[in-house]
Amino acid sequence: MVKKTKVCELLGIEYPIIQGGMGLIANAELAAAVSNAGGLGIISPNAGEPDWGKVADNLRNQIRKARSLTDKPFGVNFPIHQIGEDRSLIDIAIVEGVRVVTTGAGSPALHTHYLKEHGVKVLHVVASVRHATGAEKSGVDAVIAEGYESGGINSPDELTTFVLITQVVDAVRIPVIAAGGICDARGFAAALALGAEGVQMGTRFIATHECIAHQNYKKAIVAASDTATVITGRRLMPIRGLKNELTKEVQEKEGAGTPPQELLAILSPGLTEAAMLRGDIVHGQAMCGAGAGMIDKIVSAGDVVRSIIKGYDRIVAGL
Ligand SMILES: Cc1cc2nc3c(=O)[nH]c(=O)nc-3n(C[C@H](O)[C@H](O)[C@H](O)COP(=O)(O)O)c2cc1C
Repeated sequence: MVKKTKVCELLGIEYPIIQGGMGLIANAELAAAVSNAGGLGIISPNAGEPDWGKVADNLRNQIRKARSLTDKPFGVNFPIHQIGEDRSLIDIAIVEGVRVVTTGAGSPALHTHYLKEHGVKVLHVVASVRHATGAEKSGVDAVIAEGYESGGINSPDELTTFVLITQVVDAVRIPVIAAGGICDARGFAAALALGAEGVQMGTRFIATHECIAHQNYKKAIVAASDTATVITGRRLMPIRGLKNELTKEVQEKEGAGTPPQELLAILSPGLTEAAMLRGDIVHGQAMCGAGAGMIDKIVSAGDVVRSIIKGYDRIVAGL
């Protein structure tokens, strides 16, 4: 049986499985389904709402919707490169009673103290030992150590989950949550064996009934093979996504030494919306982790959590 870890105690959840924040697609229904199954669901402020001007109302609505669907804890993700120093969205989460926040893609020094003063637990995403120890010094409650198998924005350090977790666990005293390439009970058991106190998964939760992602995108994840993803934008902001016409064009231009400014002109923000909400997975930016090849079915988010918990005993018994 999966024992309760420090992450379970910290967050008041049954199983140490977190559904990662995912810009545009981590919606209330998904978060509530994960929380109802005993994990921790996370809402992204712009879930289903590409217009950042409407994000405040959207966040409030998403939190209220999730609250109507579950009485279990859930959290909100704030990508720091998007919110900057502005605390208006954070204040909405606090007023609405959210007690867990994940942050990433920026300095944890910016908002951690403020969040903790308001009784909010802070989990910060890191991708190196240096960033993990820095986050610990900033006072975060736990770090989410994310290897570059993961979908979405990646660190230029490009450390794999396997080597990252082991070293971060040795370097910090706060709990470590493993992320990147974890899609099933095997990855979950391996992460715990490396010393993590829990896991965060993104890609696996996209291919679920509750996720607001477009059906074409979910189907593309199910159809993906082991080599279906690629990192592009290494000189801008590295992003792992499904290989398609867009990533081909960007890779060709990168190979030809095209200046980053010209690449930026191709990578408009609307491309993620095009792929992830409108289903243009050929020309859009379909963020996706390297673990997609392990996902062979669209299932309910609760079943993702339950199958990991069920599979864990069999795996451990077989070791
Ligand atoms: C489509 C997509 C969007 C993401 N957006 C965010 C985000 O807005 N904020 C964030 O902290 N992490 C984001 N992530 C990272 C996830 O929260 C999670 O850490 C990651 O997906 C774990 O790796 P996996 O995809 O291999 O499971 C995103 C991941 C994906 C796949």
